Amino acid sequence: MNARATWTEREIGDLGGKVAIVTGANSGLGFETSRALLKAGAHVVMTMRTTEKADAAHKALSDELGPVSLETMLLDLADLESIRRFGEMFHGKHSQLDLLVNNAGIMMTDAQLTIDGFESQLGTNHLGHFALTGHLMDIIAATPGARVVTLSSLAHRWGFMEFGNLMFQNGSYTPRAAYGRSKLANLLFTYELQRRFEAAGVDAMSVAAHPGTAGTGLADHLFNRWYLQPLKSLVFLGIQTPKQGSRPSLRAATDPTAVGGDFFGPSGRKEYRGAPVRVASNAASHSEIDATKLWTESERLTGVKYENLRTSTK
Ligand SMILES: NC(=O)c1ccc[n+]([C@@H]2O[C@H](COP(=O)([O-])OP(=O)(O)OC[C@H]3O[C@@H](n4cnc5c(N)ncnc54)[C@H](OP(=O)(O)O)[C@@H]3O)[C@@H](O)[C@H]2O)c1
Repeated sequence: MNARATWTEREIGDLGGKVAIVTGANSGLGFETSRALLKAGAHVVMTMRTTEKADAAHKALSDELGPVSLETMLLDLADLESIRRFGEMFHGKHSQLDLLVNNAGIMMTDAQLTIDGFESQLGTNHLGHFALTGHLMDIIAATPGARVVTLSSLAHRWGFMEFGNLMFQNGSYTPRAAYGRSKLANLLFTYELQRRFEAAGVDAMSVAAHPGTAGTGLADHLFNRWYLQPLKSLVFLGIQTPKQGSRPSLRAATDPTAVGGDFFGPSGRKEYRGAPVRVASNAASHSEIDATKLWTESERLTGVKYENLRTSTK
């Protein structure tokens, strides 16, 4: 392990001339990640679900940072048509993509479906980002040294793949198991994408990150009863700020010593908090059999084919 447990965003080098996309960038870790990338000089495309959120984020960062190379674009990861449209618009405006941060996510929501009928946590957190990355793959492959960073979670350890019942049908849904599955899928995807980059000889890297615990809006729906509000304040006292929580993503995105398949998370006890270092994910996340099955299933469900990355075998 060569990672130092002191890393902060001050170690990010000059990103002038680089183009980055951060999904779910209006709040939490995505907002902090975007802010740090902008400060380092990158052109950052921040994706949001509504124009109101886009305008607010644009104003907040422009007011704070002055003239920065910031663009906002609409993207709903729970809607394959929105993802296709985003890909088309991005291609219309840009000819390079150095960094894609697959950050957006939902956690432990009640049972619901995406517009395309997918279980919403797998649909948003994994299938949405699978489709997005696929729509952008030609431009990623054409950008030397491009990186794809995908956000996972300690909760990947709660996950298990059951390919006959990927969407938790017939009353088998629980918010926890579905979140765990989606975050396990994020890692299976990360490692499989790296194998496919290598097999196809593409000069790009796929890496993952998890923030440990950070006080963002991710659990707001779980705290939304008035009597739970004091508990929220108490929990937030003990966990990382969004800025601290964004450091594993930022290190994964920018550390020049990172290699494909790296996973960054906090260095502290149980990986809950601390400076970002390389961490290990569980055995299930390294299953090449499950990764291949998930890839095939994700292509079938989303209709997005990675034509230039057909196989993970050299
Ligand atoms: N915070 C933690 O402790 C923690 C721990 C482990 C992993 N993570 C991971 O970190 C990532 C960022 O979460 P966060 O903590 O920063 O939470 P957050 O503040 O709630 O941010 C989540 C972002 O995802 C966006 N999003 C949700 N559904 C979307 C959809 N259908 N299409 C496009 N964007 C959508 C949200 O947009 P809206 O504002 O429109 O909803 C928001 O911008 C997630 O992948 C999460 O699983 C966080």
